[in-house]
Amino acid sequence: MKKDKLLFVCLGNICRSPLAEGIMLHYINKHKLPIEVDSAAIAPYHIGEHPDPRTIKNALKHGIDIRPLVARQFQISDFNHFDKIYVMDNSHYYHLEKLAPTKDDFKKVDYLMNLVFPNENREVPDPYYGTEKDFEEVFQMIHTACQKLVNQYAENIFV
Ligand code: 4NP
Repeated sequence: MKKDKLLFVCLGNICRSPLAEGIMLHYINKHKLPIEVDSAAIAPYHIGEHPDPRTIKNALKHGIDIRPLVARQFQISDFNHFDKIYVMDNSHYYHLEKLAPTKDDFKKVDYLMNLVFPNENREVPDPYYGTEKDFEEVFQMIHTACQKLVNQYAENIFV
């Protein structure tokens, strides 16, 4: 079966986007969904690193283990490989608009939170300089969006 390929993008690929990847991997494995997922950074700061310890800790609290994930930077070839590219905030959206080789490539890009609030272009805030509470809020936002995604492939898992 052809798998849909989804990419999640944030600034550092150590907080928000690996969380989306990890949550999706959890449900893909649990429900045998035909989806391939990955995540990537806009900036090169954390290439090769595992996710931020605060993100890891908060995700583990919810039974999601993102410890094995490793940060990488977004590549132009990702426009070709992936069917859909979900960004967390405006800066990623406009950065990918500049990088996209064609208008059709850029059509693959959307805000993750548009899965929950269509066309509102809401942002998932950067928790990097935030508190434990901010990491939990980011988890809840991303988890809600991932539930919408899962429901696109297996109806009514989350009602
Ligand atoms: P992320 O969070 O984009 O959700 O991974 C950040 C990670 C690192 C930095 C900023 C945001 N940083 O400035 O190093």
